[in-house]
Amino acid sequence: MVNSKIQAAEENLIHVYNRFPIALDHGEGMYLYDTEGKEYLDFAAGFAVTGLGYDCRELNDALKAQIDRLYHTSNLYYHESCGEAARELNRVSRMDRVFFTNSGGEANEGALKAARRYAYTRKTGRYEFIAMENSFHGRTFGALSVTGHTPYREPFEPLVPGVKFAKFNDLDSVRALVNDRTCAIILEPLQGEGGINLATQDFMEGIRRICDENDILMICDEVQCGMGRTGSMFAWQGYGVKPDIMTMAKAIGNGIPVGAFAMTEKVAKYSLQPGDHGATYGGNPLACTAVKKVLEIFERDRIVDHVNQVAPYLSAKLDELVKELDCVTERKGKGLMQGIVVTKPLAEVNRRAIEEGLLIIQAQGNVLRFVPPLIVEEKHIDEMTEKMKRALR
Ligand SMILES: Cc1ncc(COP(=O)(O)O)c(C=O)c1O
Repeated sequence: MVNSKIQAAEENLIHVYNRFPIALDHGEGMYLYDTEGKEYLDFAAGFAVTGLGYDCRELNDALKAQIDRLYHTSNLYYHESCGEAARELNRVSRMDRVFFTNSGGEANEGALKAARRYAYTRKTGRYEFIAMENSFHGRTFGALSVTGHTPYREPFEPLVPGVKFAKFNDLDSVRALVNDRTCAIILEPLQGEGGINLATQDFMEGIRRICDENDILMICDEVQCGMGRTGSMFAWQGYGVKPDIMTMAKAIGNGIPVGAFAMTEKVAKYSLQPGDHGATYGGNPLACTAVKKVLEIFERDRIVDHVNQVAPYLSAKLDELVKELDCVTERKGKGLMQGIVVTKPLAEVNRRAIEEGLLIIQAQGNVLRFVPPLIVEEKHIDEMTEKMKRALR
């Protein structure tokens, strides 16, 4: 039903989103409620953002306390929450230096600049990037330039020069693009927007080897697949293949706008220097309080262990859909970042899911994506499966 709030948005916002006609009001745990009081089980988590679900009291209280104390300074001064969030994020990501941004796209912008700056300092003459087909890295010019999906790119060309696209999970196609101008290889260990495509162990190890043998930096975009979603704190850790630079956003602030790119000391030594990069809001006290608190809760409540406990149940239930419904042909993904390939039009399935009180998202390749808050339990997976069956029939 189109109420006055929806109508106001329709009339006043630039129309870049195909929104569903519901206006959300509040959330609690795994559920969201619209302004008419209807309940929705959330298997979208605001695009894999709200790992801790909604109305996490502890996080709310920490944020409220920080708002009353201080929520903006500028990056000319230190503040306690920034140092602590950086230390904790470096500890869990096993990186050495981090820069806070406001989004995932910005985190990737920074990572690309950091890689070029590394090459510039070392006078290697390297500036090219190798990215993957079907990748998604954001909507800013740099991030879009390494995004391997033509419809996103075409209306905005020419983009940043020096980008080549290899086939995901095909080392030969990567090798064919490597030359003495290659600066970095960027990839998502588990592609989200691109259709829930998981990198193989061989591919991750092979990329690392190519980088080591050719003085190339490896950049992992963990914006969507990071923060416990695949069953390790960051997806690369599940492979034991450490990148030189990594990017994060989404779940690190549970919805407070914050992202980050981080690098090893080896890279940092030659990379960005004072004046090279910045962000007025990046790493402000509110964002850093969110990161710090989210990480504290993740560790105390053993969220990653919980993902590993509950994920096999999600896999089993999605396999059940594949088995029982002709229109579901495949299950893909890992941990709590999974998808099913559906032969029916996805927009219609999504609309019916919403009628059933279930939120899910689409991905390329006619994939329905399941990225619930990481606090999801078996009873929620049961509820989702029943609703999905009705929406797919
Ligand atoms: C892998 C990946 N990288 C980058 C981004 C861009 O993040 P943001 O929308 O916060 O700019 C996204 C967003 O979906 C993403 O999935």
